[in-house]
Amino acid sequence: MSNKQFDVVVIGAGPGGYIAAIRAAQLGFSVACIDEWANDKGGPAPGGTCTNVGCIPSKALLQSSEHFEHAGHAFKDHGIEVSGLALNLGQMLKRKNTVVKQNNDGILFLFKKNKVTFFHGRGAFAGAQGAEGYPIAITGPTTETINAKQVIVATGSNPRALPNAPFDEKLVLSNTGALAIDAVPAKLGVIGAGVIGLEMGSVWRRLGADVTVLEGLPTFLGAVDEQIAKEAHKMFTKQGLKISLGVKVESVTPGANNVTVKYADAQGAAQEAVFDKLIVSIGRVPNTNGLGADKAGLALDERGFIAVDDDCKTNLPNVWAIGDVVRGPMLAHKAEEEGVAVAERIAGQHGHTNFDTIPWVIYTSPEIAWVGKTEQQLKAAGVAYKAGTFPFLANGRARALGDTSGMVKFLADATTDEILGVHIIGPMASELISEAVVAMEFKASAEDIARICHAHPSLSEATKEAALAIDKRTLNF
Ligand code: FAD
Ligand code: NAI
Repeated sequence: MSNKQFDVVVIGAGPGGYIAAIRAAQLGFSVACIDEWANDKGGPAPGGTCTNVGCIPSKALLQSSEHFEHAGHAFKDHGIEVSGLALNLGQMLKRKNTVVKQNNDGILFLFKKNKVTFFHGRGAFAGAQGAEGYPIAITGPTTETINAKQVIVATGSNPRALPNAPFDEKLVLSNTGALAIDAVPAKLGVIGAGVIGLEMGSVWRRLGADVTVLEGLPTFLGAVDEQIAKEAHKMFTKQGLKISLGVKVESVTPGANNVTVKYADAQGAAQEAVFDKLIVSIGRVPNTNGLGADKAGLALDERGFIAVDDDCKTNLPNVWAIGDVVRGPMLAHKAEEEGVAVAERIAGQHGHTNFDTIPWVIYTSPEIAWVGKTEQQLKAAGVAYKAGTFPFLANGRARALGDTSGMVKFLADATTDEILGVHIIGPMASELISEAVVAMEFKASAEDIARICHAHPSLSEATKEAALAIDKRTLNF
């Protein structure tokens, strides 16, 4: 019997892969998507890192832990007295798992709706391109070989471990373990003050852990606009996160019930700390395990990413790669944009991903969100710019919400007034940043935003006011 033949086979059903599969099916191709992720019952759990152990469960726990913290003190100011407040961590984790499952099931439903054939198992190149395309071998719950005229590789990334300290997910935790701790640790260590370290550190601090974050670099959130990063450092420290910068971790030694970390502090002095749990969040590495890249001759770059050009084309004809497994920011929405663009290129259209307008969000409290250049990047590039900031303290909606932390900051070209970057720290920054993304995509000036009517009272008025601040014309500050 001959192998099943597909126009497009997508390997990996994370946000990059499942979106690419749906878009390719919308464009009229016969499409298969293969994913090996299994739920606790061994069934398929499409959605990748993002859905299973990333974006979705982390945001579920961030929301729950924020409610818990607010119930503890913030509600009182609103005249809501809560007595007998108690944490039911089991229920909190159960809810998070339910949210994950809803997303897994949603993707399976979308595959059916769009007539994407889903295979549960590992997909691997079984050889080079032949007359019938590429043979892709599936192993696992499904075992069969299918043929693909076009292949989209979307195999994602894995957490990077410290040398000599493998993840055991009991004491030394990656993101997977960090999202499933079953009792609040009295002392939690976090190595790496990046996005995961700050988000997961915030969750467990809100639930009662004493959290120490050890960061290797001397600067806090180096990729973030300096003014915003400084503000964030101040606020997180005030909340109780103990952040040490410029440390050098020497060793991580798990014991029976705790883990000892030896490190040199910023002054070079030897330090030792004992934690009940340790989260290691020092970045992620591309995942090409078991993909059979060598069987087809698929080239990787020097850092292990699948080598691609600006259009996500690999060195092989009709093989594309997208998302975390290729260069660029490791973000779900970047993976999705590449997935859509590649499906459209396969259809002969001009798919496009604009790397200059990809928003970043850190879902701490307050949230941090930005798009475009930071002030330090503009200085380094010698670009003449104007800056305008507006604090949420002066925003009526923020006062009504009871969250006046942070600011909106605009950076615009000194001559043309074109918006070069927008940086927000404050309530709902993740939502507010969209206006800036749209504005930058349309090459708007700060004056354009300053002259657009924004609803009152709304947090978005702070965006308009920050644009007005560029020419020192704020109306409410
Ligand atoms: P993945 O989501 O990693 O999916 C790859 C899929 O391919 C997986 O299901 C894997 O099992 C499967 N696979 C791999 N190899 C094979 C094979 N050979 N055969 C079959 N299947 C295979 N990004 C954001 O934008 N916003 C956030 O809020 C956010 N929060 C995050 C929080 C955490 C804790 C983490 C760890 C990450 C977070 N990210 C977030 C990053 C985001 O999860 C990734 O950028 C995104 O998942 C990348 O999508 P992808 O499709 O490239 O890969
Ligand atoms: P990260 O790159 O954000 O941060 C890693 C941090 O660890 C950096 O500050 C780095 O300097 C530090 N570090 C590296 N090696 C170290 C060492 N040996 N000792 C001490 N510190 C060290 O990586 P993270 O947090 O692991 O997240 C991975 C990626 O996942 C992120 O870059 C992001 O792309 C994605 N993500 C996105 C989220 C979002 O969009 N909200 C949330 C979580 C993850």
